[in-house]
Amino acid sequence: MSFFQRLFSGKTHQIFKWLSTDMHSHLLPGIDDGSPDMTTTLAYLKELEALGYQKVITTPHVMRELYPNKPTDIKALAATVNEEIVKAGLNIKLEASAEYMLDDGFDTLLENDLLIPIANRYVLIEMSYVAPTLNYENTVFKIQAQGFVPILAHPERYNYLSMNDLERIKSLGCLLQVNMLSLIGYYGKHPQAMSQQLVQQKYASFLGTDMHHNRHLEALKDMSSHSKLVRMIENTEWQNSKL
Ligand SMILES: [Fe+2]
Repeated sequence: MSFFQRLFSGKTHQIFKWLSTDMHSHLLPGIDDGSPDMTTTLAYLKELEALGYQKVITTPHVMRELYPNKPTDIKALAATVNEEIVKAGLNIKLEASAEYMLDDGFDTLLENDLLIPIANRYVLIEMSYVAPTLNYENTVFKIQAQGFVPILAHPERYNYLSMNDLERIKSLGCLLQVNMLSLIGYYGKHPQAMSQQLVQQKYASFLGTDMHHNRHLEALKDMSSHSKLVRMIENTEWQNSKL
């Protein structure tokens, strides 16, 4: 299908309608390395709505050193964004959770019941891209012991984790969330190969945009030109719409 055929078929503009909900993004203004201000946040939400998303569960970074975002601040900012969504006449639903770095601040949040889980159930976690968090399996158990289900964000992007490691993590009851843009090679060849394997083997439960900025948005829009890939993910079962 040519660019103009796609444009006029409207397909480009609703390509993620079937997925309905995104559960990983950085859209709260000025709180992490995502959207810098409210105007940008609203522009991104409008674009995500045009791509077919009906709901966005946005997940600002929570890292002890860089982004020590408190749950009360995240919730207050999400409420303000929701007011602006209404004023702007958008239909997209916005909820807030967080993407928790497994650092030494995380245990404190977990022990003090200060997490904001996705859908009251899931805790989105990440590790450093350089080296795994020490005893991360133990942290997975601790999250489960508090009654939550951990989701590892973009497992395909940790070059130190093999497919065997990911199988092991999944067998512990930690669900996996693949980044949409990994599938088209946005982060390089290794994440691309790993993400495609995770999808083909049905190891991943969630798909996320992990949207931070305009380059991510443009790449997401361009996914309609990867029709084979879009068909593959459309024909895979995802938990996104249940959130
Ligand atoms: Fe993220």
